[in-house]
Amino acid sequence: MKSNIFTAKRPFSTSHSSVDSEEIKKFQLLAHKWWDEEGEYAALHSMNDIRVPFIRDTLLSMSSNYQLGNPLSGIKILDVGCGGGLLSEPLGRLGASVTGIDPVEDNIRTADRHKSFDPVLAERIQYKSSSLEEIVEDSMETFDVIVASEVVEHVADLEMFIKCCSQVLKPEGSLFITTINKTQLSYVLGIVVAEKIMGIVPEGTHEWEKFVPPEELERLLESNGFSVRSMKGMLYNPLSGSWSWVQSTSLNYALHAVRAGAPPQPHATDTLPETDVQQHSATAGTAGTVPDSAV
Ligand SMILES: C[S@@+](CC[C@H](N)C(=O)[O-])C[C@H]1O[C@@H](n2cnc3c(N)ncnc32)[C@H](O)[C@@H]1O
Repeated sequence: MKSNIFTAKRPFSTSHSSVDSEEIKKFQLLAHKWWDEEGEYAALHSMNDIRVPFIRDTLLSMSSNYQLGNPLSGIKILDVGCGGGLLSEPLGRLGASVTGIDPVEDNIRTADRHKSFDPVLAERIQYKSSSLEEIVEDSMETFDVIVASEVVEHVADLEMFIKCCSQVLKPEGSLFITTINKTQLSYVLGIVVAEKIMGIVPEGTHEWEKFVPPEELERLLESNGFSVRSMKGMLYNPLSGSWSWVQSTSLNYALHAVRAGAPPQPHATDTLPETDVQQHSATAGTAGTVPDSAV
């Protein structure tokens, strides 16, 4: 088959993967637990109370044209590391067209099954068992928005992951990341208290070494053509089971970055030979006299 814009592969190949097989084993064991609101993923369920409005309101503030009830209608979102679809579903209900990908096949099975309970989501969400680099290699599809929520602290190669994000995001598209900072406080609260003492998440869920300092993430984003537009701290209260926004990013944080726009297209007049430019300028104000070559 001849390759065309839909079937051609991007010139990207890699001998290694962003996927860490040890991480996959951990998520595999919990693949049937995603939708237990009181279970291991309870904190991700309640994180929706702040991350969904963050994504929705940021996108709406960048657009002048949206439908009441379906404010994200027409927006194509890639939810990388979607797990059981906890974030894909509310984004789909806001009208977005969501592709959720996850390297753990059983997560995708759980997500697909849960989606089937709501007929509204059938057309809006598609799930695929895939890594981000497979998406980059296998299709020329691009997205308006990428979300990677609580994922980057699990990947094997963060630089490659961010590079892949820039390859599947449209120019001026938005990237939303939530993750955990690498500080002494995140060791004490995120590993010792959350995993070993309170059991908020199962022991071994996180490796402190893989937590991501915001400065490092910002540097990687900027060197891959993104500009970070906002970054804010998130705090989980284990007693109320709720999240709130805080100034400090020393524990969890969320960021919004925008991929640089396409380089400006040369204006039609810029490409004309000098004589045509002169003729164009001379005639531009007169209806019907602009030569075809100049428009
Ligand atoms: C903590 S869960 C977050 C799930 C979902 N984003 C949410 O917030 O509800 C992390 C997810 O990332 C997936 N994951 C791990 N490594 C990944 C990688 N290299 N690329 C994409 N997803 C990955 C895991 O399988 C898991 O489903």
